[in-house]
Amino acid sequence: MQILVTGGAGFIGSHTCVELLKRNIDLIILDNFYNASPKVLDRIETITGKRPALCVGDIRDEALLDTVFAENDISAVIHFAGLKAVGESVEKPLLYYGVNIEGTVKLLSAMDRAGVRKIIFSSSASVYSDEAACPFSEDSLTGCTNPYSWTKWMIEQILTDLHRADDRWKIVILRYFNPIGAHPSGLIGEDPKGIPNNLLPYVAQVAVGRREKLGVFGNDYPTPDGTGVRDYIHVCDLARGHVLALEKMEELPGLEIINLGTGKGSSVLEVVSAFEKASGKPVPYEIKPRRAGDKPECYCDPEKAKRLLGFETEYSLEDMCRDSWNWQSKNPFGYEQPE
Ligand code: WQD
Repeated sequence: MQILVTGGAGFIGSHTCVELLKRNIDLIILDNFYNASPKVLDRIETITGKRPALCVGDIRDEALLDTVFAENDISAVIHFAGLKAVGESVEKPLLYYGVNIEGTVKLLSAMDRAGVRKIIFSSSASVYSDEAACPFSEDSLTGCTNPYSWTKWMIEQILTDLHRADDRWKIVILRYFNPIGAHPSGLIGEDPKGIPNNLLPYVAQVAVGRREKLGVFGNDYPTPDGTGVRDYIHVCDLARGHVLALEKMEELPGLEIINLGTGKGSSVLEVVSAFEKASGKPVPYEIKPRRAGDKPECYCDPEKAKRLLGFETEYSLEDMCRDSWNWQSKNPFGYEQPE
């Protein structure tokens, strides 16, 4: 049995590969390194003692996909590959619909041709509507505010229709809340290109001295300290959720949508203070206007993940900050050192 991991060199993908290899599950990574580094492969090998097989290429390349399925004994796919920057998706919607939607349809078609009908799909808590109230459960109202989130929403619909048309498909859709942290070894972690869009990489880069100060997007939300509240989940917990989904897939009825989060919200200022404590470094910040499209709060009801997968998170916000700092301080410029 071999698992095809699309986007396996990325942040969540690489941590999931480590978790699979730890359990002796054989895998092959398909990645075009658009937003990932080939050095990840060496790091995964150092952590696990095993080097994953690699196919360099794009999920939109149908001939390549057919070759991958023909030449390997793949039993299921964990599909991470895709673009994920909300702001960029607003500026380049066709790029996002092309890579995420067209790429996924091509992947599913190749799987169908090869008779591989098991997939775990990376979806996002950003599919929950602004009209829905926290905690979000899987049947909370959905609705999106940007093309990135619409691609996730539309792929969920495509998968639902596919399962309706052919019940041989086994599909698990995982809606991630806010993955942060890094592998405790400090060998793999999040390495965004350019100015980070997300809170944790930005905070980590301020603490390590790459950026002067954090802009806090709004302190007048109806939350305890006025700043945005999110459900941060350690990437190693998230990775373990995928392995559990893979193991339980056979027992599940066919298509399941499952939240992966802790169920606990933390504010921007709570994260800043936890990070300062974990790193021993100051994280100066200034209050800025709200960022367009942000919700005041976003945290999940984790009950379904516990009931169906036996999934419960193990790492605290302190652990997440400690591991994120360990990664950032050992690799201040990520995988590539500056010239
Ligand atoms: C968290 C909080 C910000 C940066 C997005 C996507 C989602 C998922 C994760 C992508 C908010 C505040 C942030 C900064 C700040 N997918 N913030 N200053 O917005 O919950 O979700 O990322 O890969 O689909 O929508 O995450 O980390 O950007 O923001 O004050 O410089 O931090 O306003 O309250 P978000 P985030």
